[in-house]
Amino acid sequence: MTKTEDIQPAISAAPLHMIDIIRKKRDGGTLEPREIAFVAAGASDGSIPADQLAAWLMAAWLNGLSLDETRALTLAMRDSGEMFSPAGLGKRTVDKHSSGGVGDKTSFLVAPLAAACGVAVPMISGRALGHTGGTLDKLEAIPGYRTALSLEEFESVIAKCGASIIGQTDQLAPADRKLYALRDRTGTVENPGLICASILSKKLAAGLNGLVLDVKTGSGAFLREMEDTEFLAALMVVTSETAGTRTVALLTDMGQPLGRAAGNWIELAECVELLRGQRLAWSEDLRELSLILAGWMIHLGGKAESPDKGYLLAEAALEDGSALAVFMKMVDAQSGDISVFDDPAAFHKPGATQVVEAWESGFVAEMDTTALGWAVQRTGAGREKAGEPVDPHAGILFHARRGAHVERGEPFATLYATAPELLAEPIAILKQAIRFSNTAPNPVPLVGCVFTREAAEKYLKAASGS
Ligand code: URA
Repeated sequence: MTKTEDIQPAISAAPLHMIDIIRKKRDGGTLEPREIAFVAAGASDGSIPADQLAAWLMAAWLNGLSLDETRALTLAMRDSGEMFSPAGLGKRTVDKHSSGGVGDKTSFLVAPLAAACGVAVPMISGRALGHTGGTLDKLEAIPGYRTALSLEEFESVIAKCGASIIGQTDQLAPADRKLYALRDRTGTVENPGLICASILSKKLAAGLNGLVLDVKTGSGAFLREMEDTEFLAALMVVTSETAGTRTVALLTDMGQPLGRAAGNWIELAECVELLRGQRLAWSEDLRELSLILAGWMIHLGGKAESPDKGYLLAEAALEDGSALAVFMKMVDAQSGDISVFDDPAAFHKPGATQVVEAWESGFVAEMDTTALGWAVQRTGAGREKAGEPVDPHAGILFHARRGAHVERGEPFATLYATAPELLAEPIAILKQAIRFSNTAPNPVPLVGCVFTREAAEKYLKAASGS
């Protein structure tokens, strides 16, 4: 059979046709950067119809993208819109991106911690979908907080406060907006090259000097196989580094919810208590991971010689209240009402509350975190379909964690739902998601491996067998 590659003219300036590019990828060929750029440009300006883009995505999903193709797609998608230029800030800019989880609220801690240590943090975040929570939905639990800022306003908030957390704008990486929506509808999300280009195109368009990737592992992670997670982490580090952004990926445990709260307002309240210097039962993992991630951000931002020294600076900013001051200033600058933090418990007004008692005695041996994420979503805290509203006050507060010993009848979790009739389903899911045992489970490290550029290159070389 004649392959498209064989008949395609070898003249690099020859006109391109989407049908040839689809057939080439379908037949296992490797696309040239200009062919990939043609796809990304056609996705963002609408010149390539959705059926052809979907066919190309499926061909790329089935045959994979090489490292060079992934890099070319990332850069072409980055260049499909405007670039945020942080040069005027006069500081290095560093962001953190998490692959998503349950109770994963480190953004509210790491952004002010890094900013309090002199790094500028332009953070562009997402919304809840599926079993994972969304930073923007949590922030919108604060009355008045604006997540949609123009790039000019974004820059002015960062200049004033050191950090700003907003949602994706139409201006940055529009090709991803189009391609991601199509991937969602055509079963082509779970491909390392496509995920890498999607995440990094948005991050690189924000003009970052440094990027810390928090890639989740365990029962609450999107990718369940450790090998897939490691490959994606290494791929993102090498792709981002070769595009000029200092990048590190930390593989971190999502085998249980992070911290004690999973929802919207209750997660913010937990973070503000930590920023006020309190040590909370069942929040130690959240505090520790946030300090580790912030330590890396401060190091990549040039304010500490090593991530360990960055950790110590972050801890000092937590203890002396300077990170809390940055957080409040940022919320105020984005029109949020900071008075709700005067008494977070008084502001919390769920439609229905129920304490679930431990239904067995023993050690909490396993938590199916994906199921727990669905339980949180069913309280009203998350959404089933993009665009649906979420309840700021719904969610679950956990009173025990993996490894804890509980007695039957002790409070295990408190559920907050939009209405009483929404309590039964999450309670049933919660009870299915927990396994008790007579013996304590083996401890799981909070941070597994760390991929710097060198480690990531080594990993990819070994993975490709060269
Ligand atoms: N998040 C993104 O932004 N893109 C993906 O492809 C996956 C997760």
